[in-house]
Amino acid sequence: MGNAKINAAKAAIEHVKDGMCVGLGSGTTVKEFIKLLGEKVRNDGLKITCVTTSFDSRMLAIENGLFVTETDAINEIDIAVDGADKVTRTALLKGGGGALTREKIIDYNAKKFIVIVDEGKVQETLKGPVNLEVLPFAAPLIMKKLGKYHPKIRMSTAKLGPVISDNGSFIIDCEMEVKNPEEMEQQLKSMPGIIENGIFTKFDIIIVGNEKGHRVL
Ligand code: A5P
Repeated sequence: MGNAKINAAKAAIEHVKDGMCVGLGSGTTVKEFIKLLGEKVRNDGLKITCVTTSFDSRMLAIENGLFVTETDAINEIDIAVDGADKVTRTALLKGGGGALTREKIIDYNAKKFIVIVDEGKVQETLKGPVNLEVLPFAAPLIMKKLGKYHPKIRMSTAKLGPVISDNGSFIIDCEMEVKNPEEMEQQLKSMPGIIENGIFTKFDIIIVGNEKGHRVL
């Protein structure tokens, strides 16, 4: 993996201040951020409250000594730090880890949303699988409707059958070229049974880590 993810995470840590409520995204880049945040809280004695976007991040945060709570116990989310599968200057594709719904809820509700990625994720135009979280009852109809995008229900590798998200839903992966991310995000959002889609068009900063340091996109 090298240092790129760690360097992106290090740059994001600079935005965390005492007393903040921090939204923790999901994925391997955020994992580095959670480890560093745990260290910072221990070393500097900061009072930080965390809300998480997946069981995975919740477990990791607790393991790293962070105080994790739920959205009903906080006033606001000061910053959210999350990874992405692909990024351009104007949009992200997320959901490779199946956590897109909770990610969008936490990330979009934060006062500042910081994206951390490595250089391999940066694109000129948004291309890659568009991931959807879908109510199982609606999945067959949605698959038919989105047929031209070759939708596939994501299958589990550690159990029989489909991946079941943290919210008890299916994940459907589509092959889609996203020419107008804002329009496509809203279009998918408006289809009954699609709980959320992995096109993200609202964020504040994209920090791109590399072997030596980072840059802001
Ligand atoms: C989780 O569902 C995803 O949105 C992740 O945030 C995204 O896949 C980035 O993960 P990595 O940092 O592991 O690439």
